[in-house]
Parts: sequence; structure tokens; C-alpha cells
Amino acid sequence: MGQHRLHIGMGLIVSAALLLVACGGTFTSPTATPIPLDPTGAPISVIARGKTVFVKKVCNSCHIVKGFDEAIGLVGPDLTTIYRSAASTIQTSVYKASKGRATTAIDYIRESILDPNAFIYPSCPTAACQPNLMIEDFKETISPDDLEALMAYLVSLR
Ligand code: HEC
Repeated sequence: MGQHRLHIGMGLIVSAALLLVACGGTFTSPTATPIPLDPTGAPISVIARGKTVFVKKVCNSCHIVKGFDEAIGLVGPDLTTIYRSAASTIQTSVYKASKGRATTAIDYIRESILDPNAFIYPSCPTAACQPNLMIEDFKETISPDDLEALMAYLVSLR
């Protein structure tokens, strides 16, 4: 009885395979489910993780991201459109005269996190931004994975 079932089973597999061949299918592994991407090209799941890192690393206590209820800090600049703003900041003469070395928006954002005093962004929500306020040891305390996710999140803000 068991043998019989096995036979039917094998028969089904073989006919399925033949059907595949007949229809022009191949025996290579089935196409992987596509990973949903944000318009910025990063996987949505990575961006979502970056948003949790933004809270875990208390960035949200000093920065506003409009539309994100937990990010309402007034100490640092509003990051709602940081990617676009970074692209213009690096073109300014104040930036070029600073210790900042970024030539792309992505490098600027990374530099702002890892070396916050390289350049002091001029305007914060309530007054001029101050140096030495942003936590300075993120380069030691954020894991490479977390930094990558955080960057994907910040780059998606535009
Ligand atoms: C204690 C408050 C504080 C915390 C916490 C903080 N920041 Fe900041 N951040 C600031 C201040 C103040 C500035 C402006 C001065 C400067 O440029 O360093 C700033 C600047 C920035 C800038 C540049 C903004 C611009 O418009 O060019 C980015 C990007 C940034 N922070 C991201 C982060 C991220 C990401 C975190 C968490 C990993 C974080 N910050 C945590 C206070 C903070």
C-alpha cells in the first residue's frame, strides 16, 4: 500500500516536471520573492529597522522628523528632509570652510553622526545650533548593522 502511494507520488512529480518542460519552464530554483523596496532603493524592512535605531540611540530626543510622533526633539536640526537638505548644505561656503569633508549627501549624513563637530549646522528649531551638544561617541556605540539601517532610514527622509 505504502509502495503504491509512493508510486503515484513519483508519477505526479514526473508529470509535473514534464509539464514544466513542455511549458518552457526550467528546473532552476523558483524565482525568489522580490524584496519590497522604498523609492530610495533600500529595502523597506531595513528602513523600518533604522527608524527603531533612531529611537534606540535617542536621536529622536533631539531631532524632529515630521510625521513621526516619537521624534519631536528641539535640540538639533529638524531632520524631516535631511537627505535633500544635506545635498544643499555641502554646497555652501560655510560647509566648505569647515572641517567637514563630505562630497555627497550620504557622506554628509554619516559624517554628522560619526563626527558631529566637523561642521555645526547653522539653524536649530529654537535658536542657532550649538557645538558639543550632539552625542559624540556614536562611532563607538552604534554597531555597523545599526548604522547601515539608520543611514537607510535617514536617506529615505527627503
Ligand atoms: C543631545 C542631542 C542630540 C542627539 C541625542 C543627537 N543629535 Fe544630531 N544634532 C544635534 C545638534 C545640536 C546638531 C547640530 C549641531 C551639529 O551640526 O553638530 C545635530 C546635527 C545632526 C545632523 C546634521 C543635521 C543637518 O541638518 O545638517 C544629523 C544628520 C544628526 N544630527 C543626526 C543624528 C542622529 C542620527 C542621532 C542619533 C544617532 C543624533 N543626531 C543624536 C543634537 C543631537
